[in-house]
Amino acid sequence: MSLENNNEVNLSRRKVLTAATGVVGATGATFLAVPFVSSWQPSEKAKAAGAPVDADISHLQPGQMLTVSWRGKPVWVVRRTPDMVQKLTGNVTELRDPGSEQSIQPNYCQNDSRAINAEFFVVVGICTHLGCAPLYRPAIGSPDVSEDWQGGFFCPCHGSKFDLAGRVYQGVPAPTNLEVPPYRFLSESIVRVGEDTVEGGKA
Ligand code: FES
Repeated sequence: MSLENNNEVNLSRRKVLTAATGVVGATGATFLAVPFVSSWQPSEKAKAAGAPVDADISHLQPGQMLTVSWRGKPVWVVRRTPDMVQKLTGNVTELRDPGSEQSIQPNYCQNDSRAINAEFFVVVGICTHLGCAPLYRPAIGSPDVSEDWQGGFFCPCHGSKFDLAGRVYQGVPAPTNLEVPPYRFLSESIVRVGEDTVEGGKA
């Protein structure tokens, strides 16, 4: 092959290689761009995960608890009996944060019952120590807690105890009361979790 022919072949190869590199580069740029574009758009799943959820409390009997999922967390609604509500004022000296000053709740729930309506307690069911799910133990003297137990929530992994307003007892690992989420009553039978009521609003 002459020197001239050889140069033509090399030139053709270079064109092919340049074209191929261009395609790969463009394709690579497309792949790189996609994750950034998608990260700017919240997915439908993410939107749904942050949306308020409604709990139907029409069949909830006094003393019973139901669970709904909000933002991937369990949220409990407990229908307290008059006895349960009455106990909430008699145990304050045993509690770490009886006034809920160091704990998380909407302003309209910073009271003894930590609720808009004392009969219904709405709370995130996650221990403030290491994030386990406490057990609902409403009965006095529940055998897996203690003889003098007055009812509340018990986290068995490290023994944290909370009263029936989710207020933590002294001398246990959990540092603060259980978290109360924002919520409001849409009617007498529907509680909407994840949406605030008017400050100081009533059911
Ligand atoms: S997570 Fe509740 S006591 Fe450890």
